[in-house]
Amino acid sequence: MNEIIKEYFQKQTNLEVMPDATVLGKGGDPGCGDYIELYLKLENDTIIKATAMVAGCPYAIATTSAFTEMITGKSLDDAMMITGDQVAERLGGLPEEKVHCSLMGPEALRNAAHNYIMARICTPTGGVV
Ligand code: FES
Repeated sequence: MNEIIKEYFQKQTNLEVMPDATVLGKGGDPGCGDYIELYLKLENDTIIKATAMVAGCPYAIATTSAFTEMITGKSLDDAMMITGDQVAERLGGLPEEKVHCSLMGPEALRNAAHNYIMARICTPTGGVV
């Protein structure tokens, strides 16, 4: 494990529940133990705050923490362009067998965007999840 990953793993920045989140997205598979819940606070479709809860290995914790930093301040559209490869790059690279750990953040973000759009379409007040 490189020093960047170690630091993200130890600091665990943004790894907490956000009670006033605008929307929640899920990624991974709770059945196999690799799972994240991504909480987004949105203003005008821009992510002003992102936090997450993670069940997974130290690489999942580090990559998810880095992902919350990478999407903060971005529009939902721009944040969805961030790939697992870019997350891995920010961390100085990942071992091949840990690449899937970096994919849960983008997956959870797509799920959050889906939930956000569906809530706007489906609730009379335009409220969100
Ligand atoms: Fe499965 Fe990292 S989350 S090995």
